[in-house]
Amino acid sequence: MNHSNLKQFMIKMIPVGILITILSALYIIATVKHIERSTLRLKPVSLTAGCKTKLDKYQLKSGKYYISPYVTKQTGKQIRRAGYRPEDIRAIQRGCNIIDDLLGQDAKHISERWNSRRYIRGTHTSCDHCHQSIGDKQNATGQRLVGSLSLAASWVKADAYDRFTGLLLPYELRQMQCFINSSNGFKPNISDDIIRDITAYTRFLSVAVNLRTQHRYPEQGIDEIPVSATAKRGDDYVRGASLFRLKCANCHGARGFGTVINGRVIYPAVGGPNAFNRQSRNNFRFVSTILPGFICRNMPLGQEGTLSNQDCRDIAYFISNMPRPAGDKAGPLAALWQQMMMAILPRLVALVNQDEEAKPTSNLKTNENKTQVDQ
Ligand code: HEC
Ligand code: HEC
Repeated sequence: MNHSNLKQFMIKMIPVGILITILSALYIIATVKHIERSTLRLKPVSLTAGCKTKLDKYQLKSGKYYISPYVTKQTGKQIRRAGYRPEDIRAIQRGCNIIDDLLGQDAKHISERWNSRRYIRGTHTSCDHCHQSIGDKQNATGQRLVGSLSLAASWVKADAYDRFTGLLLPYELRQMQCFINSSNGFKPNISDDIIRDITAYTRFLSVAVNLRTQHRYPEQGIDEIPVSATAKRGDDYVRGASLFRLKCANCHGARGFGTVINGRVIYPAVGGPNAFNRQSRNNFRFVSTILPGFICRNMPLGQEGTLSNQDCRDIAYFISNMPRPAGDKAGPLAALWQQMMMAILPRLVALVNQDEEAKPTSNLKTNENKTQVDQ
């Protein structure tokens, strides 16, 4: 090989060299990330206040057997279930933290939540805004509540047929639906740590309250409100708007944008860029029975159960008219339109509302007696 041949050869090899460098860099990054994740899995977990209370209540600890005090109290028997290893405990603890504090407001570093923020577009979502009491809502006597979106009850129905798509969805995919739509975010990989930890926690919950696999429990999902369960006055925007002002706006804001104080989400958005998107089952226009059910059961916070079925449908209908993200399936044009609506509509509404804000709300006619109480 003479000198010029060698030179030509070297020039030809430049792209190969670049490729090898890029691949090696990627390999090194992947390895470093992998090591980071492994170290994190070994680290003791600092629990959120809610998770500390929850997991203490169920006396989660490692050992050969696990006996849930809740089950002992309910059945009068000490039922032994398979025990947990220290690494299982940490997975359950991390899963609980994720449901309670998805965006890591209480975490020292977002890596404690497996960098959950990259899966969520907005700045408000936490799973337990809808799956309340960290997915395990009970009344004062420890009874699990009907239609409380229980994650324990949903775990035992893992791998169920989805009633809207007709597909057999594994538990991981059902979580993903909530990441994509209810949390208006992105789909984590099916084997991502975030999904695995959530699964570990929900599985633990189902053991802690002694649910049997493949059984349908009333606390799964929402007890939905169809039109037939109302006063059949039709879903009404004006009634909904006035009820929202009276009953919800003080926490969720007049435009549903939620309340954030010092960077902490106090009350989540129900409309606007940080809310669930149009393809969420919470969106009345997509599934009209779920949001009314949620509102009637769980809102207004502190006065749950005070609204009538008709009220809840009216309010849900009103909320569905707030601008919100389009969701992935709608395509880029719809997404652009929604973004525009979110940027422009609030300003228009503010303009229109300027003189309306001065009017007392009682001018708006509501036909439900209940709404008179606050006036
Ligand atoms: C805005 C409200 C909302 C948020 C936020 C939310 N979810 Fe959901 N979730 C729902 C609704 C509504 C359903 C569907 C219930 C149905 O189809 O009957 C659901 C269903 C599920 C299911 C399937 C349960 C079942 O019983 O079929 C899982 C698992 C789940 N969510 C996990 C999560 C996780 C994990 C997060 C956080 C990343 C989350 N959800 C955030 C409202 C929400
Ligand atoms: C006292 C404050 C308060 C009032 C009043 C209130 N909410 Fe909420 N709402 C909350 C809080 C806090 C959450 C988060 C869940 C939790 O912590 O229990 C929430 C959650 C929600 C959610 C699900 C969260 C999400 O991400 O979409 C909806 C929907 C909702 N509220 C609707 C309503 C409606 C409709 C009303 C009026 C009928 C209402 N709320 C009144 C405080 C309030």
